Amino acid sequence: MTDKGTIMTSQGTSMNTAIYDEHFIEAAKAVYDSLDPERQLRVETLGRMHSAYIGTHRDRQLDMLFDSLIENVAATLFGTAAKRRAIFVVGESGSGKTTAIERQIAKRPQFAPRLTADGQWVRPLVIQEAGKPLTLKGLARGGLKALNFPVTYKQITEQEIFDLWKEQLKEQRVLYLWIDEMQHVLRGNTTKEIQNVADVLKSLVQIDGWPLHLILSGVPALAQFVHLAGDADGQLKGRSNLVELRPLSYPEDVKSIRKIVLKIVTKDAALIPVDLEGDEFIHRLIHACNGAFGLIIQLVRAACEHSLRTKATTVDVGSFAFAYSLGGCRPSQNIFTAEAWQTIVPDNALGELLARVSKQQDQKAEVAKLAKKKEK
Ligand SMILES: Nc1ncnc2c1ncn2[C@@H]1O[C@H](COP(=O)(O)OP(=O)(O)OP(=O)(O)O)[C@@H](O)[C@H]1O
Ligand SMILES: [Mg+2]
Repeated sequence: MTDKGTIMTSQGTSMNTAIYDEHFIEAAKAVYDSLDPERQLRVETLGRMHSAYIGTHRDRQLDMLFDSLIENVAATLFGTAAKRRAIFVVGESGSGKTTAIERQIAKRPQFAPRLTADGQWVRPLVIQEAGKPLTLKGLARGGLKALNFPVTYKQITEQEIFDLWKEQLKEQRVLYLWIDEMQHVLRGNTTKEIQNVADVLKSLVQIDGWPLHLILSGVPALAQFVHLAGDADGQLKGRSNLVELRPLSYPEDVKSIRKIVLKIVTKDAALIPVDLEGDEFIHRLIHACNGAFGLIIQLVRAACEHSLRTKATTVDVGSFAFAYSLGGCRPSQNIFTAEAWQTIVPDNALGELLARVSKQQDQKAEVAKLAKKKEK
């Protein structure tokens, strides 16, 4: 080891070891050492390609909102904290919410654990994923677990567990709480249900003497909290900012997607792009991924990975068709090769395969049943 989180490879480059468990890294190193030099070079390219962050104009808006979260806490030293203490980051699955927020967190030292003046290690930021399905009580239970304060007993009222959660947030000096997949607390779409959740969020940012700041992310339905509460009494709306990571579309986003494709292919994977700049190719790519930013990146990487694995020096439409087919679609349903690609619903590709499998299974069961009958 050279320093924490870095190991030198036999190729003389450095290996990132900071994210995973040290025993996992030890096991991964054993696998790496067993590979021949050519494959060692390939895994290095793959590892770096998969972890490279791709910034866009979307990050600028997040930068500003995260700056305000940080500064809002420090501003209390000179007056009062502004009321806007919650950020909603919404977008469809694969739009890149989690990655964008993780990036914000990683680049800001204010979120890192710190030693207090009285010698205690505290975490200014606590991260919690709202598992599924989730009641409000379950949200509080998950919150306490994220604070290493698990409550296992059942005899506790919703009010009691919420009070305990807020008490612990204050006691453990948590300044920022990020709840990802927050839509899981929305079990119904009724006004009452949404208002209940909005009330809980409001009470979290109103802890006495402790202006907690919230980062809430999830699918676009989450925006209902902001709007409904706005309609009801304006309190949550006035207390939050909302960023939507909207789906990319044709032709508006062609230029930026082309740039991303070329960056991943040439810089991250060190390959040569062939015929990947045309508008139609980019349009197919957007369509294949339903416009989800993160899914587009993943598909470009998968196409590069295919080229690297087949020892090709180029990436072309065929590499994309192959990468897309790995999702489980029939050749006729491949958006990169089909004539009538615009009529193919991308989500259906895997669905059709699964439907075929279950049909085959039904047929097999039917044949087995008939054979049994005959035996009798
Ligand atoms: N800015 C980015 N740079 C590089 N890769 C990205 C970026 N954003 C997303 N990705 C890639 O896309 C994948 C999906 O993104 P992410 O998990 O952040 O989406 P999400 O909106 O949180 O989706 P979900 O709602 O399913 O949780 C990531 O695992 C990552 O591989
Ligand atoms: Mg996510």
